[in-house]
Amino acid sequence: MSNVIINRAETSKIESVDFENLTFGNTFTDHMLVCDFRNGQWEQPVIQPYAPFLIDPSAKIFHYGQAIFEGMKAYKDEHDDVWLFRPDQNYDRFNKSAVRLAMPEIPEEVFIDGLKQLIQIEKEWVKKGNGNSLYIRPFMIAIGSGVIAAPSTQYRFMIILSPAKSYYSGEVKVIIAEHFSRAANGGIGAAKAAGNYSAQFYPTKLANEAGFQQIIWTDDATHTKLEEAGTMNVFFRINDTLYTAPTSERILDGVTRKSLIELAARENIKVEERSVLVAELVEAAENGTLKEIFGAGTAAVVNPIVGFSFQDKYHELPKIENSFALELKSKLTGIQRKELEDTF
Ligand code: COI
Repeated sequence: MSNVIINRAETSKIESVDFENLTFGNTFTDHMLVCDFRNGQWEQPVIQPYAPFLIDPSAKIFHYGQAIFEGMKAYKDEHDDVWLFRPDQNYDRFNKSAVRLAMPEIPEEVFIDGLKQLIQIEKEWVKKGNGNSLYIRPFMIAIGSGVIAAPSTQYRFMIILSPAKSYYSGEVKVIIAEHFSRAANGGIGAAKAAGNYSAQFYPTKLANEAGFQQIIWTDDATHTKLEEAGTMNVFFRINDTLYTAPTSERILDGVTRKSLIELAARENIKVEERSVLVAELVEAAENGTLKEIFGAGTAAVVNPIVGFSFQDKYHELPKIENSFALELKSKLTGIQRKELEDTF
């Protein structure tokens, strides 16, 4: 276990929080973990009261967006034990993102052991029951000063925690991207880089104004292949087969995505990792073979999509009895809360 310095908050905010009416990502727990990288090495991590901090205005995070993050969740079982879901996969992906953004890799004892100590201190913030979790946001920013366009020599790694219910509060309708792109070959699409998300804000704002919550991105070169939605990977059910795009330089290797592929196989649902063409999706919607579309991600969990728009034509999905999305969601969340065995 790493040598974490612990400075406890004098009072807790927990009594003032309405856990039944949480908006995603707006409420934070009493403590955060902070660990700085200076002079070529990681310093001792500190768990301290959650609070703003000072950074030099010339820090590279502000000018060049050198920043990465992860999304994870902790769950409480009926015996009041708190569990993380496959944290090693988020740890590995975080360091892959760090390498792609020319940032230092974080040691396991800071990321994993530091996280476990932080959660131990904040375990009252993890509520039991279906739909409740503690969303975990580890991130790293470049704090070295100077506006020269080169990697920083100083970084801050932090973990903040936010009690969560659902990410989307209503129906999710999507637009298929015809002009804008999320990622390109050789770019940073597979990294969980902050810039991958801010680059989607403008097209997503346009989509929101047109009454859609998300965009399903298509490949940047031809806009003919369906890739992922900005906050989730996407699955398409045509007849009784599930399809999801293969991971690539343009697609995030989602932990939920991977878990659902394994879980579906275990439930005897046929899954294929291959690109679905936009034309194929429209045809399936028109001939009635498109049964479901759903997003999969840590924050969103498994989120059914009720319809999609392409070339200004809206295709509503049918209401179905035996939804794969709901079946897989119930199995996955059962495993995450330790109510079902994790045999895969
Ligand atoms: C997550 O699912 O945890 C993510 O990182 C997506 C984020 C934009 C909420």
